[in-house]
Amino acid sequence: MNKYPKINYIGNKNKLTDWIVDNFPYKKGTVLDLFCGGCSVSYALKERGYRVYSNDALYSNYVLAKAIIENNHVILNNDDFNIGVSKKEIIQKHEEIRFLENRLYFPNEVGELAELVCKSAKLEGYKKYLFLSLIRRAMIRKIPYSRMNVPWNQIVKLRDEDYSYAKYKRRRAYHNLPFIDHIYENLDNYNNSVFDNKQDNKAFNNDAFEMIDQLEEKVDVIYMDPPYPATMNKYGDFYGLYDSIFNKEINYINFSENNKFLDNLEKLILKCLPKSKYIVISENNKTKPSINDISDMLSKYGKVEIKEKRHQYKVTNKENKNETIEVLIILQVKTSNHSS
Ligand SMILES: C[S@@+](CC[C@H](N)C(=O)[O-])C[C@H]1O[C@@H](n2cnc3c(N)ncnc32)[C@H](O)[C@@H]1O
Repeated sequence: MNKYPKINYIGNKNKLTDWIVDNFPYKKGTVLDLFCGGCSVSYALKERGYRVYSNDALYSNYVLAKAIIENNHVILNNDDFNIGVSKKEIIQKHEEIRFLENRLYFPNEVGELAELVCKSAKLEGYKKYLFLSLIRRAMIRKIPYSRMNVPWNQIVKLRDEDYSYAKYKRRRAYHNLPFIDHIYENLDNYNNSVFDNKQDNKAFNNDAFEMIDQLEEKVDVIYMDPPYPATMNKYGDFYGLYDSIFNKEINYINFSENNKFLDNLEKLILKCLPKSKYIVISENNKTKPSINDISDMLSKYGKVEIKEKRHQYKVTNKENKNETIEVLIILQVKTSNHSS
């Protein structure tokens, strides 16, 4: 039985996917998950039989979407780990990614990562993307707080198992394991997430605006879970160093700028109107702009409906839990906005 794998994505909707999909206006059809992140909503949609298009500005999310959304049957086996790479290739790659030394990992660890990156380049098709997803998983597991913008002196401190135990009663020894151990540990979990829902699902790596421009066909629903202002929203800082390893950084609109968010969202909605019958937006009562601000803006373009659910977000590294009301804002686009 397939299952969404362990990804650990900041701001994910893992615990809410059933509720989100239950409230979708269509029970089948094509859905574009425009800010797919760790693909939790895309994956739930795939499980329910939709044709899913997953898009994100970050390459690390694109590789995930390739591996577990677009990919319907390819898995990795032990032979895939025996690919030979020459010393010369590894040394060259190590040079290229030396910027990670004493920033995310110790120098010998960056050497190991360089070898894995070389191996990934020798794999083809979805095998490559599964391997790249596992490299991502290993990279994240090795960093305290699971994000790439923790200062190096903090990383060193928290990776000291005695310090960690004395201070937090947890050794967190997994930060100090080689990358390959994490890859093997997660291999079955990722392989088991691959399944066929008999749809032609697709992964994209575009800025949201670009994505809509490029979308050639009309879809049934565009789902948006954008990075809201004043939340943990620095996705480029959290995960962008992965993209740098592969030289895959793209330019994209920074949605989270407080004073521009609503303007940006409206511009994006205007682009989406001719391309979709419904636009579904995730928000919660703690974020700005408020639910009313967003639904007022949307009501110019069709009928707006709001669904609510109480939800407890676990705040990383804090004992307290944050109760919020999770909201889905559903816009049924006025037919006059549809192009024929
Ligand atoms: C709140 S997260 C999505 C979380 C996702 N729903 C999940 O469950 O994992 C927002 C995502 O938007 C992406 N993003 C930010 N600005 C973007 C842009 N201009 N175009 C496309 N994606 C963008 C970020 O990389 C991030 O993955």
